[in-house]
Amino acid sequence: LAQTVERVRWGVLGPGTVATRAVIPAIQASATGRVVAVASRDPARAAAVAAALAIPRAHTGYAALLADPEVEAVYLALPNHLHRPWTLAAAHAGKHVLCEKPLALNAAEASEMAAACRAAGRLLMEAAMYRFHPRLLRLKELVAGGALGAIRLIHAAFTFPLTARDNYRLRPEMGGGALLDVGLYSVGATRWLAGREPVAVQAVAEAWAPHGIDRQLAGLLDFGEGCFATVQCSFGAAEHQVIEIIGTVGVARAPRAFTAWREEPAPLYWRGADGEERTETFEADPYALMVTHFDGCVRGQANPLHDAQDAIATLAILDALARAGQTADAQKP
Ligand SMILES: NC(=O)c1ccc[n+]([C@@H]2O[C@H](COP(=O)([O-])OP(=O)(O)OC[C@H]3O[C@@H](n4cnc5c(N)ncnc54)[C@H](OP(=O)(O)O)[C@@H]3O)[C@@H](O)[C@H]2O)c1
Repeated sequence: LAQTVERVRWGVLGPGTVATRAVIPAIQASATGRVVAVASRDPARAAAVAAALAIPRAHTGYAALLADPEVEAVYLALPNHLHRPWTLAAAHAGKHVLCEKPLALNAAEASEMAAACRAAGRLLMEAAMYRFHPRLLRLKELVAGGALGAIRLIHAAFTFPLTARDNYRLRPEMGGGALLDVGLYSVGATRWLAGREPVAVQAVAEAWAPHGIDRQLAGLLDFGEGCFATVQCSFGAAEHQVIEIIGTVGVARAPRAFTAWREEPAPLYWRGADGEERTETFEADPYALMVTHFDGCVRGQANPLHDAQDAIATLAILDALARAGQTADAQKP
């Protein structure tokens, strides 16, 4: 007899783009969770989203959702500067938290959040959905299994032209800037694939004067033992995403590395020591895989593949890159 496990009862804070388009549908399509409530600052928006997405309860204000005894786990999809206060409030209310990226504005904030959730005995995970995509899991397996030899160089980039005029991404006080928004993907993936932490970083950054945020950054990570990574992010360049790895005997490349979704074919091009050029193609909804994994962790059936400590480590590198991008100690050619 198959054992039935009760579905995790989710509440959603902030019915914005990623919540309504990707994560709420993923939870609702899963066999492991269901969305029982949604909260907005605006009662009309809460009601409209609940009606449109068949969510049983609409709350006005995020505190009301945290006081809802039926909610076990919170998906937190608020602008970046609200990740810390509402994660702390959720932990206090005894809820598990799947928090959007970046987990916080810096490593210190994220450590405080992790400590609060740990003290409450609740799970905290950053919604790093790309790490659940089978294509990147295959890439990780190739690297870890030595198919490319020892890893010498990694390149990761995520750029797009930000045309919105009024958006938290443009506001420093809301955790705006290209590094936190999309640089996080390249840095998080690079550390994960390298399988260790960089010993030093360097960066050049361009400030976006009218907004007071970084528009673009190029960074170098030194992982020691002759393994270097370049990371690039921009709000002022054409849409582009890639991960490339060069090892001592092979190479691999994943285009549109981070946001491949649902039926979008996600190719992995690679060549190992035998010199044969290979293409493997994957299709998946990484949001669905992420929420199912989170539900398994809540029910004690799995351990988090990527815990809060991992997100803190990525933020520590972002902090160092931001500092490096502000210093003028580069050598003149
Ligand atoms: N993993 C991914 O694929 C992915 C993709 C995009 C974004 N994200 C992350 O998800 C988070 C939300 O991004 P989004 O693009 O979905 O944002 P969005 O569309 O602007 O939605 C943000 C939501 O936050 C709420 N909010 C509360 N205070 C706000 C304020 N002062 N200003 C604006 N909104 C406020 C709003 O809900 P109410 O007003 O209704 O309460 C709004 O619906 C960010 O942390 C972002 O980095 C992740």
